[in-house]
Amino acid sequence: MALEDGVITEGDSVFDFGCGRGEDLRQLKRLGFACNGWDPAFRSDVPLHSAPVVNIGYVVNVIEDARERVETLKSAWELAEKVLVVSARLTLEAQRVKASEFQDGVVTSAGTFQKFYGQQELRTWIDQTLGVRSVPTAPGVFYVFRESEDREQFINRKYVGGGTSMPVRKVKGGWTFSSSGRPLYKTLAAAKRAYKAYLAKKNA
Ligand SMILES: C[S@@+](CC[C@H](N)C(=O)[O-])C[C@H]1O[C@@H](n2cnc3c(N)ncnc32)[C@H](O)[C@@H]1O
Repeated sequence: MALEDGVITEGDSVFDFGCGRGEDLRQLKRLGFACNGWDPAFRSDVPLHSAPVVNIGYVVNVIEDARERVETLKSAWELAEKVLVVSARLTLEAQRVKASEFQDGVVTSAGTFQKFYGQQELRTWIDQTLGVRSVPTAPGVFYVFRESEDREQFINRKYVGGGTSMPVRKVKGGWTFSSSGRPLYKTLAAAKRAYKAYLAKKNA
């Protein structure tokens, strides 16, 4: 996802904090990225070091002790020179998991602890722990940028339209495509009509 979002770019090295057995590292290496990772259970001999991009993927949700969760997130943030990618499991998934309540999370039938987060709960926790404003990119996945300029550039690319083939811009009374000036609502309405027609044909 960080690759698709342009958050990991050519030349960036990546450090995977809590990398498990290193599956993400193998994929990044195959793509030609310099990367390394540490995990207390599987790669505890690797020294921690900083990198432009640090990933802490599905780690905080397995930590039982709430204070350790905070310290772990802070440690990963200290290593991130440009951006920290944080992901955790969401309450939406909890319905599919057989589990009994334990502390502020659950213990699953496999005997592992899981703290399932609400999307907003996770965001608030990241922001308050690190004293920053993270940016959501997908359910349960957030970017924490070191520089506000990088944060704004990402929001522009992803949410305002700079990353699409047809950038949009705000004008009095709404949004238009930058190139044609065509109002966005007209295009969206046309897309809705086309989709309805497609569904009608499919279900006929
Ligand atoms: C669900 S796995 C995720 C592994 C990998 N990041 C991934 O996305 O596939 C959670 C990992 O967090 C690691 N972990 C547990 N406590 C940790 C801590 N305090 N700091 C860093 N990693 C931790 C575990 O050893 C485990 O490998």
